[in-house]
Amino acid sequence: MSEVVIDVAGLVKCFGELRAIDGISFQVEGGETFGLLGPNGAGKTTTMRVLSGLSPIDGGSVSVAGIDAVRDGRAVRSLLGVVTQHDGLDEEVSVRQNLELFGFLAGLSRRRAAERSVEVLRFFGLSARADDAVDDLSGGMKRRLAIARSLMVEPSVVILDEPTTGLDPHSRNRVWEEIAQLKAAGVTIVMSTHYMDEAATLCDRLAIMDHGRILALGAPPALVEEHAGVAVTELRIEGASREQVRARLSEAGCGWREVGAVFRLEGEKAPDSVRGLPGVRLDLRPPTLEDVFLNLTGRELREE
Ligand SMILES: Nc1ncnc2c1ncn2[C@@H]1O[C@H](COP(=O)(O)OP(=O)(O)OP(=O)(O)O)[C@@H](O)[C@H]1O
Ligand SMILES: [Mg+2]
Repeated sequence: MSEVVIDVAGLVKCFGELRAIDGISFQVEGGETFGLLGPNGAGKTTTMRVLSGLSPIDGGSVSVAGIDAVRDGRAVRSLLGVVTQHDGLDEEVSVRQNLELFGFLAGLSRRRAAERSVEVLRFFGLSARADDAVDDLSGGMKRRLAIARSLMVEPSVVILDEPTTGLDPHSRNRVWEEIAQLKAAGVTIVMSTHYMDEAATLCDRLAIMDHGRILALGAPPALVEEHAGVAVTELRIEGASREQVRARLSEAGCGWREVGAVFRLEGEKAPDSVRGLPGVRLDLRPPTLEDVFLNLTGRELREE
């Protein structure tokens, strides 16, 4: 087993009356990609700010590579690559200047900063845009530049707050590939997302968060197996009366949740009384992390 690089124990963080982080604990091992999955306001950014040595806390402890992230935020920040939810790039200067300046401020010599910027530009396929103003880049390129910038100092741990939110599918795929390459290079990654497919694709383990708490923690397939069973049965209402379907499900003592015209059954077996109904299609599909979240909270992850 690899060593523990990040150790969060009983973390509490309040904003006035609000317990934004309400006693969470998790550990991340070296080389692991660990995800925080949760809806708006779950506490993902707050957790990452604490991990990044940027925020005081109200309880518990947080260490990164054996350093106390609360007491010694400065030392922790020097170890990490951090990509915040909003890029914070300097829009006025060129892509290359953004990287070089960042590297220089992070302690690289001017010469090393220049060399390293060439390397990261190549890694991110941004070399051809090196002399463009940041303002001229697409949203996806800006996001990738923000990640590139965090790698200037060759960190062994990278914190990525919602790396792909708002990106088109093509840009998301690129970012996914780049994160996978970082992982292959042995970098420890902590990332947040509210996309379940992203979490399932990239993360070795996940903490599913809501209202400042961790509801479940584990590898994506294990979470699905534990909290969503082996199959999900759905009724697609294609012409039948929803009232009638509701009545029949109730009579049969079968629980369900409605998402538009889809009735997602709580059990796997659909009652005979709805099976034959004209205008109702029965679907059996593999469960996803979305089902896990729904089962744990009664809400949909994407309902915003
Ligand atoms: N500086 C602050 N002052 C007061 N409340 C805050 C502050 N920062 C965060 N909060 C509150 O703490 C809770 C957690 O916020 P946080 O930003 O960590 O959520 P998140 O999971 O990152 O959400 P999102 O997906 O929208 O980015 C929210 O209720 C938020 O309003
Ligand atoms: Mg956030």
